[in-house]
Amino acid sequence: MPEALNPCAPGWAAQQVVHWQAGHGRHDLPWQGTRDPYRVWLSEIMLQQTQVAAVKQYFARFVERFPDVQALASASQDEVFALWAGLGYYSRARNLHACAQQVVALHGGRFPASAALLQTLPGIGRSTASAIAAFCFAERVAILDGNVKRVLTRLLGFAGDLAEPRNERALWAQATELLPQDHLADRMPRYTQGVMDLGATVCTARNPSCLICPLRERCVARSAGQPERYPVKTRKLKRSSASWWLLWAEDAQGRIWLTRRPQTGVWAGLHCLPVFESSETLLQALPAPQRSSATLLTAFTHVLTHKDLLLHPVHVLLGAGQAVDAEGFWAGAADLDRLGLPAPVRKLLSPTSGLATAP
Ligand code: ADE
Repeated sequence: MPEALNPCAPGWAAQQVVHWQAGHGRHDLPWQGTRDPYRVWLSEIMLQQTQVAAVKQYFARFVERFPDVQALASASQDEVFALWAGLGYYSRARNLHACAQQVVALHGGRFPASAALLQTLPGIGRSTASAIAAFCFAERVAILDGNVKRVLTRLLGFAGDLAEPRNERALWAQATELLPQDHLADRMPRYTQGVMDLGATVCTARNPSCLICPLRERCVARSAGQPERYPVKTRKLKRSSASWWLLWAEDAQGRIWLTRRPQTGVWAGLHCLPVFESSETLLQALPAPQRSSATLLTAFTHVLTHKDLLLHPVHVLLGAGQAVDAEGFWAGAADLDRLGLPAPVRKLLSPTSGLATAP
């Protein structure tokens, strides 16, 4: 390839991205303008599977309630889950809390200052470790999240199937070669943000804006006229579905019977209405006289990453001394505010949802 067209020519892509970020990248996100590893880490974990717009308000609430890693480490898991509720992927919240506790217990309350050490902490994978190390410590390490994979596979015309670990490893190696070579203190944070910004705003999955892309001159996918062919990833997520019956038992004071989900699986560790696999097993958990007064509310679907849940809420009022045959406790309004509940369950129970209205 003539040098003038080679996207891998030393320093070319980094220079383009750094220059473009200064003029056209994002500069006003709440987690920018700081090199505080706590804030950068918190934002990167929240951004792993969630859009920027949704993360902004959660990030603000978290840093207000937990201004530093010590405050987060000493909170209860329930409080962390309650603040996280609605962001989804609750294993992130569990790892967040565990990570804060490890930073305090093993690292004296300071995040370690290298990607290699950051990766030893719960919930921090290679790309997240690189993002923190590049933003906070200007370390020369590559990120490779979904947006960045798209930018780089298109730029390079990288057609290997990313479902294959060896191809993913090869792309990491190329991503590392493309990083800035000098002036790392300024360029690593800006390049890292720039390549993320390019993926989010220009090199989009559909209808990329190649005409305004700083990499267009040497982008292999663009010159072949087929940017949307990249990245190549064949293995599809296997989706499954399940029907769950949710027992919404209420007592005369308006309290609700809650159970705790197991520590693994769907909604792990959250508080929830008791879940049953069928309406029959749900009714068995009620005192016999109450079975005929249970009301089946409108069912609704809740979509998880790997599973569609068809949720059937069943409402029942219990009298004094009547109990539900499922481990749990009566939760009042204050408990519901304080505890971590799955978002669809919280919505169902909220006073404004209206009985029989699907969330
Ligand atoms: N996605 C992942 N990290 C991000 C960041 N720092 N800014 C914007 N979007 C991101």
